[in-house]
Amino acid sequence: RIETVRLRAVLDSRGNKTVEADVLTESGGFGRAAAPSGASTGEYEAIELPVNEAIAAAREHAVPRLEGRVYAGDQREVDETLRAADGTADFSEIGANSAVAISMAASKAGADVLGAPLYQHLGGAFRGGNFPIPLGNVVGGGEHAQEATAIQEFLSAPVGAPSVKDAVFANARVHGEIGSLLEERGTPAAKGDEGAWAPSISDAEAFELVEEAVETVADDVGFDIKFGLDMAAAETFEDGEYVYGDEVRSTEEQIDYVAGLVDEYDLAYVEDPLDEDAYEAFADLTDRVGSQTLICGDDLFVTNVERLEAGIDVDAANSILIKPNQIGTLSDAFDAIELATRNGYETVVSHRSGETEDTTIAHLAVATDAPFIKTGAVGGERTAKLNELIRIADEAL
Ligand code: PGA
Ligand code: ZN
Repeated sequence: RIETVRLRAVLDSRGNKTVEADVLTESGGFGRAAAPSGASTGEYEAIELPVNEAIAAAREHAVPRLEGRVYAGDQREVDETLRAADGTADFSEIGANSAVAISMAASKAGADVLGAPLYQHLGGAFRGGNFPIPLGNVVGGGEHAQEATAIQEFLSAPVGAPSVKDAVFANARVHGEIGSLLEERGTPAAKGDEGAWAPSISDAEAFELVEEAVETVADDVGFDIKFGLDMAAAETFEDGEYVYGDEVRSTEEQIDYVAGLVDEYDLAYVEDPLDEDAYEAFADLTDRVGSQTLICGDDLFVTNVERLEAGIDVDAANSILIKPNQIGTLSDAFDAIELATRNGYETVVSHRSGETEDTTIAHLAVATDAPFIKTGAVGGERTAKLNELIRIADEAL
């Protein structure tokens, strides 16, 4: 059983405070995890409380219900206890940041007790043997960088990579190639919150740049690399219109624009192309682009089974982003993954723009046979997950 739950404030990659949890078991098991934090958060996400408040509330309400009572390896029970301790639907009492840190730390303690790697504990004996294709953020702006592209993320998608390691290295090469191209054209660029280049160029210029880089690297490595986007459209939707820099589009125009981009650039992936309440418009677009391109709901679904069910009912998308901190526990994230998979939706396990060295999502992706993982291309808090994937592949194959 869980003996002690310790909570503390540590730093995330933006230099903000976040919640870290340690879970110790009576048998000597140990797990540690920290909560990530979004900047372009969906309206329907579970609530992230100010860190000190989240820690104090979790210490008061959740920790006494866990210590001496619940087995760390019984993830469902840990997570149900967190829900019961909170008592709200959106973790607004103890904070989704405290909840997800404890949930993930308990999973690691549970794995430690078993002497199993985390992906094995979470995935069980009958998990598949597949590895996710990493989507690497290489150019971006939106809420993640000022004076950069209006589209939040341009993502390298090494769909033809023979192994996870080749895919991870290819994304870093694409990132590097774009750095060289920017230097050649005399465009200085800082990096955004996720390590992507954040140049002051138009979206149209960014498409040409990313296309060129992806083709150059693909020729070199000898496998197919496509690219995709996170349009984070809920952040740009104002009074019924989509505002990207100087361009303003109606819903119909936005659908035409995105369908046109998919055609022109053979995009593998488009996340949140429309507003977080636009189920019908999502369905129109998904119908138009066909199954070759993933239309992925992030702010639309927020890893929430009820919102995903509503989307499945109208065929809103064909893919869902999975962020454990959007919903608050690993069990809830698993339920969303299971519902998605049963209904033919591809899952994309994802980091947040504010991250830590925590590697739980790499294990979650392998445990659930997720076809994709989105966790950046460069930067220590991103490579922590990517390198963990490489290690898991090394050990598991
Ligand atoms: P966030 O961005 O973590 O700032 O919400 C990531 C995303 O929109 O996918
Ligand atoms: Zn997103």
